[in-house]
Amino acid sequence: MNDSPDSTPLIVEDVWKTFSRGASPVEALKGINLEVKNGEFIAIMGASGSGKSTLLHAIAGLTRVDSGRILISGQDISELSDSRLTKFRRKHLGIVFQSFNLIPTLSAEDNIRLPASLGEHHEDQVDALLERLGIQDRRNHMPGAMSGGEQQRVAIARALSCQPDLLLADEPTGSLDSVTGQEICKLLRGLCDEEQRTILLVTHEPNVAMWADRVVVLRDGTNLSEFETPDRHDPLEVAQQYQSLLTVGSC
Ligand SMILES: Nc1ncnc2c1ncn2[C@@H]1O[C@H](COP(=O)(O)OP(=O)(O)O)[C@@H](O)[C@H]1O
Ligand SMILES: [Mg+2]
Repeated sequence: MNDSPDSTPLIVEDVWKTFSRGASPVEALKGINLEVKNGEFIAIMGASGSGKSTLLHAIAGLTRVDSGRILISGQDISELSDSRLTKFRRKHLGIVFQSFNLIPTLSAEDNIRLPASLGEHHEDQVDALLERLGIQDRRNHMPGAMSGGEQQRVAIARALSCQPDLLLADEPTGSLDSVTGQEICKLLRGLCDEEQRTILLVTHEPNVAMWADRVVVLRDGTNLSEFETPDRHDPLEVAQQYQSLLTVGSC
């Protein structure tokens, strides 16, 4: 595996972001640093309002930061114009949201085809994604006729359709019941283990974070610290590590 900075899917260096809308400015990100290597599955944990979504949106190029650098496969995304950033995002990043964000008037397979503009001659690729995500029998269903878990599988297939360098997921299980949420987590873990996909997920739930290789803890827009997750079936262990970091961080 090539470990040069250009092949590192994500490097975040000293990123700051203040929202100035409203009466008082909100400092959402205060000097964040993060690196995600090829094939890693990283979870960012933090309470509501700690800056998780802002960070993920900044990495996705959906929010511009005030200072610092975000390098995706060696490209500093702040150097790109809006139109080049949109093209860059489509080529290099896959994004999965809590609310699925599927187009309600398109079937599962057409939703999957859309971002990568997969035409008739990409039938094999669409078939492979439907099969990998276990939704072959849902290919002609509209989102409204699918369960939440099925919709999220379609959203993950869509995010993978452009073969992204990095898969980003913002609370991907947040709209699902816990059993379905765990199935989605297992699926993401499998994508990492079996296909060496690189995944960055944000969550506030220990039983989601436990599936990652490493958990980065965010509080009030700064990274407190991080820990590894050797046992992928012990949410209590993750909850304890998380709480102990928050306690130490507040001293
Ligand atoms: N578009 C926005 N305008 C103003 N404040 C925002 C905006 N987006 C997020 N914030 C604020 O930034 C902080 C971090 O929010 P967010 O990143 O959504 O946290 P999390 O995802 O961890 O719950 C919060 O105080 C939130 O209210
Ligand atoms: Mg959020």
